[in-house]
Amino acid sequence: MQESPKSIYIKTFGCQMNVYDSDRMSGLLAHQGYALEKDIRKADVVLINTCSIRDKSEHKVLSLLGELKALKKTNPGKVLGITGCVGQRMGRTLLQKAPHLDIVMGPDAIDRVGNLVGTVLKKGERVLDVQFDADRKRTYSQPSIVYRAKPVEFLTIMKGCDHFCTYCIVPFTRGREKSRPIAEVIHDVKKFVAQGTKEITFLGQNINTYGKGTPENLSQLVEEADRVEGLERIRYITSHPRDLGEDLIAQFGSISKLCPSLHLPFQAGSDSVLKAMSRLYTRDEYLYKIERLRHYCPDISLSTDVIVGFPGETDKDFEETLKVLSQVEFGGAYLFKYSPRPGTRAFAYGEEVPEPVKEQRLLQAQRLVHEILDRQNKQMIGKTTQVLVEALDKKAKNYTGRNPHGKLVHVFNAGEACVGKTIVVEITEATGSNLRGYYVDAPRTQRQIQALSPSSFL
Ligand code: 5AD
Ligand code: SF4
Repeated sequence: MQESPKSIYIKTFGCQMNVYDSDRMSGLLAHQGYALEKDIRKADVVLINTCSIRDKSEHKVLSLLGELKALKKTNPGKVLGITGCVGQRMGRTLLQKAPHLDIVMGPDAIDRVGNLVGTVLKKGERVLDVQFDADRKRTYSQPSIVYRAKPVEFLTIMKGCDHFCTYCIVPFTRGREKSRPIAEVIHDVKKFVAQGTKEITFLGQNINTYGKGTPENLSQLVEEADRVEGLERIRYITSHPRDLGEDLIAQFGSISKLCPSLHLPFQAGSDSVLKAMSRLYTRDEYLYKIERLRHYCPDISLSTDVIVGFPGETDKDFEETLKVLSQVEFGGAYLFKYSPRPGTRAFAYGEEVPEPVKEQRLLQAQRLVHEILDRQNKQMIGKTTQVLVEALDKKAKNYTGRNPHGKLVHVFNAGEACVGKTIVVEITEATGSNLRGYYVDAPRTQRQIQALSPSSFL
């Protein structure tokens, strides 16, 4: 009798990069004959793909370890693994601390996940793999995986970060920057598009320096992706203000598939805090980039990340952050309380801002951002916008998608037939977090809409 395939369950914490990494692990393991399982209790192999960007993210993982222990107790044959940034950061310590874990591996070990799981299953050995890719070349290749057919996809085009902002753990968990060759990325884009994908977001921790150390760069990739027949929208994330050059900025005015939206973290509004963070730009330099972006693309929607309560941040410094938030009027802002990460330079700074002060600054910034977003979104009421419909929101019981500016739109009268299509939606309601409305025209492709009326829709 043939043995039924071993089943695998993967839980993902953290950023889009982790979501993508989990997809790759599923793809690689599926290629090797594993079956994907949605119920953690039934799976033979359970992998937790982790994030360590803030203390809180790590705590979530560590508290899950207790639950995993209980799972192992009821089913001692279950293989349990921690993958991703916590695996990389804690490595052997984690394996020692949690005897019920069989696998601890970092993000650079993803290509080896099949061997690691196989070793545990066949030999019953516990395995650790926190090796960074030792090849010093600036490029790497990523075997293609089984791609799902989704209207909107994320595609990792590089790994690592060379910046070493003083608060950030990423360069320690994901290593140095390495880029995939353009030809390989475009091959993947075409594969996605052939399956029905209309929008691709290129992912990289420091995406503007994609291709560093090679003759290729991000603007060339964007140009090539723009030529891919059937692809309708291009985005990329995450940009660093220092590395966002005029060539990339100008493309927001010239590449029609490049969406008018950009995530450009400023982190702090005070020059002294920016210096202590080693962000390598001043507030005015940041604001100048915004001016240039708006020069080429006046309606570009900008989003940002902000850290409040960095060591030494005074009330006056924080006011500068609020000023930038008011002045730029971002279309989205992710606000974080500073979280000391062991091993980073800022960890040793001292001058910790007390927790209640951090909390109060966070609330104040959140209020301001919410006010701005509420106002911005309400201005959309009565206007039309193009929405690429992605999926049914089971809770809201209606279909949702995003407009070119990246705003989430709930469409009351859209059905399954709209998924993967760009529809024209009239906005009737708005809150700080989303827009809602009815589609007013039969589903068309974005190209058909543009051909009908190049400028009448946002
Ligand atoms: N504490 C708080 N926020 C952090 N980020 C990165 N490291 C830390 C930290 N130690 C935030 C930054 C970054 C985003 C992904 O997470 O704002 O842009
Ligand atoms: Fe972290 Fe700075 Fe690199 Fe972003 S640019 S990943 S914040 S070190």
